This record gives sequence, C-alpha cells and structure tokens, in this order.
Amino acid sequence: MIETIYVFHALPDTEEVVLAGVFQYDTPRGPGKFRYVRSYLDRENALPISPVDLSTLRPEILQAGDRNEGVFGVFRDALPDFWGRLVYASNNSIPSTDVTNIMLMRSPDPLRIGAIDFSSENRIPEFKTIPKVHDMARLVAVAQEVLDGNEGGLNLEERRILLQGTSMGGARPKATVLHDGKLFLAKFPAKGDRFDNARVEMALSDLARFVGIETPNTQLISLSDGRGVFLSERFDREPVPGKPGFFFRKGFMSALTLLGFDEMENPLGSYPAIADAARKAGIDCGSELYRRMVFNIAVRNSDDHLRNHGFIREGSEWRISPAYDLMPAPAVPGLSTFFDLSIGVGRMGRKATRENALSEAARFGLSQSEANEIFTTVSEGVRDWWTFYANHGVSGTDTEKFSGSFST
Ligand SMILES: Nc1ncnc2c1ncn2[C@@H]1O[C@H](COP(=O)(O)OP(=O)(O)OP(=O)(O)O)[C@@H](O)[C@H]1O
Ligand SMILES: [Mg+2]
Repeated sequence: MIETIYVFHALPDTEEVVLAGVFQYDTPRGPGKFRYVRSYLDRENALPISPVDLSTLRPEILQAGDRNEGVFGVFRDALPDFWGRLVYASNNSIPSTDVTNIMLMRSPDPLRIGAIDFSSENRIPEFKTIPKVHDMARLVAVAQEVLDGNEGGLNLEERRILLQGTSMGGARPKATVLHDGKLFLAKFPAKGDRFDNARVEMALSDLARFVGIETPNTQLISLSDGRGVFLSERFDREPVPGKPGFFFRKGFMSALTLLGFDEMENPLGSYPAIADAARKAGIDCGSELYRRMVFNIAVRNSDDHLRNHGFIREGSEWRISPAYDLMPAPAVPGLSTFFDLSIGVGRMGRKATRENALSEAARFGLSQSEANEIFTTVSEGVRDWWTFYANHGVSGTDTEKFSGSFST
C-alpha cells in the first residue's frame, strides 16, 4: 500500500511551517520517495531540508535507500528512539518492537527536533503552545510507570503531559518542558540508575564548557527525594520575541545522517570521517569536533555514537550543534585502563589514546602541534573533574565510581 506523508518545514524567521514536499512510502517496508512541491520551490526563501540527503531543490523524485526502513536519514533524525517509541507503544497498546518509522510520521508534533514535521493530512500542523510543567516530580513518576509497564493506571492529563515532547531521541526517559519561558529537554532519573545521572551530566556539561566546548544552557532541578533532573535548553529552538510560548525552529541532522549510515552501521563511523563529510557539506567544524573527540577520550565517554553528534541549520547555514549527552563511563583505577570510543578516532581504529587521536589530525584541518596543544589543554582541563561533581552535589559514593574514568 502506498502511503502519503506530507512534510512540513519551518523556514528562517517564522515560527510557522509550510508544506515542503510529499513523501510516498510503500508500507510496510518501503523504501520511500520524496518530491519537493512546486509551491515550496517557488518560494524565494526555500531551503533544502538537509544538506546531504535532500539537498536538491528541484521538482524531481528523490529515492530513499534501504537504510532506516527506507526513510531518509534526516526524517529518521526527527523521530524518537527507544524512549519515545516506548511511550508511543504504551499509548497505542502495541509492543514497542512493532513501532515503525512510518507510524511515527503519520501525526504532527510541533516539538520534534529540528525544523520539519510530518502528517498524513495535507493540513499545516497547528502550533500549540506548550504547557508548563509545574510538577516535575509527577512527570518523573509517570515516566517510571511507563518504564515499569504500569501505564494502564494513568489518567488523561498524565498521558497528555507524558506525550509532550516524546518525539525527541535517545533511550533515557525525557520530555520537552517550558521553563522560565524557554524550551528545555528534561532528562529524568529512573529506578535502577547506577548513579545520579542528572548531576553527573550537569557536571560534565560544565567541564566541557570549561575546556572550550560549546554546550547548551543547562540547569539542574532537585526532586524532594534528592534525585536530579537534567535540563538542557533546546538548541534547535529560539523564543520568538514578544510572543511567549512560540519558538523559531532550526534544522537538525545527526552525524549518522551526515555519513549516510543506518544505526546498525555506527561502528563504521569515525571522527575523521565526520570532519571530511562536514567539510564536503560546507560545514567548518574540524577543530571543535577534534576537541570533543579528545574530551570524550579524557572523560571516558564511550557512548559517543553517531546520534550523539549533531548539526543545526541557523538561517541558511549549517554548523555543528552544541555538544550533548556527555556522560563518562564509570571506571575504577587500575581496571580496564584501555578503552575504545564508540566510533573511530584515527589510524588505530576506535582506540582512545593520544597517539591515535594525533594520527589523523590533518583531516580535522589541524597541524600536529595544534592537535597536540588541544590534547594537552583538554586533558589538563579535566584534572579537577571532581570539583565539578562536588559543585552539583554528586555524592561521595557516586563520585568514587568515576575515580578511574578521567585521564589526569
Ligand atoms: N539541548 C538540546 N537541544 C535540542 N536537542 C537535543 C538537546 N540535547 C539532546 N538533544 C537531542 O535529543 C536526543 C536525546 O538526547 P540525549 O542524547 O541526551 O538522550 P539519551 O537518552 O541520553 O541518549 P542515548 O540513548 O544516546 O543515551 C539527542 O540525540 C539529540 O538529538
Ligand atoms: Mg543520546
């Protein structure tokens, strides 16, 4: 059965979306085809939805490959991962393994990451104002019910709040919330967490900023039981001046999409390959990307997969997004000192070593001495990591779990 999904795009300086094109998908397996519509191409300010997979602003049919269930990478980026699929499944009473990309594209969601939206109807999705979340503790408790498979008992209001912003990616429970007039991604604690994730992520974000990495604005909310909620201001949104609750949208694509990979192909990716592909797409991010790679080595962030690197479109220009999902892997000194990052670092593959990081410096546009200097600055900069932990109230027991994580 051929299904039609209308694709909407927010162009710069307007909070509204316009119809950009039509995606036709052969349900259940695809692949899909996309065509920009004439009314969009005729706009003076029309922009490609992505600089890689939908870069041609012409009225021709563009064919998706077999990856991502036959959905273009930039579309897949605007859909949820584990957490959002779990909420969708629980709301529709189906197993989460049955949730497909095309199902998630049938209904609009103004809080999707980036500047696109989807609908099975050719009607501009209405921009709804986002409810404020006064009761973070309740939201966290509701998310826990879903994780535990007890969502049957949730009332309508709780479901509505939970569904808000569940189009965002990632595995951890989260929601998009309005806080101080700004839009934040809120990452919740969950039963079974081995440490206070929110406080550790807060500390890491500060540490990254301290060594010169661009990060979103972050905040920590403490629940009455002492656990933290990590808030990260949505870098793909910007408040519309004089119109509280309304936001301009910025385009988004992951490094997975930039490289044209499927999630299963993550180990084929590498930092030098991201730098090469970015340059080819006109994005100059070599030294910032290099600093992030070196930081991930220095703090043992081995969950640095290709969806944990992103690019945003501001105006008509694409650039690397602020760094997100920075989380060190716990490690005690003396045990498994050697580790790999999740994607390639240099000529020695994924090995998290200085030698490997220096081996492909030229592909980031850096000389050996420039790369060496970044390595030294970052590894010296993380030396007092525990003070960042202490500043955000990470407990002594939790801090101890990371005593072997930092190369100091
Ligand atoms: N500040 C932000 N603004 C906009 N989008 C963000 C922001 N932080 C994260 N994202 C997007 O939300 C997604 C989920 O966030 P994040 O990676 O922090 O969650 P996670 O559940 O810890 O992920 P993972 O499954 O990789 O552990 C990211 O992949 C990114 O696309
Ligand atoms: Mg992530």
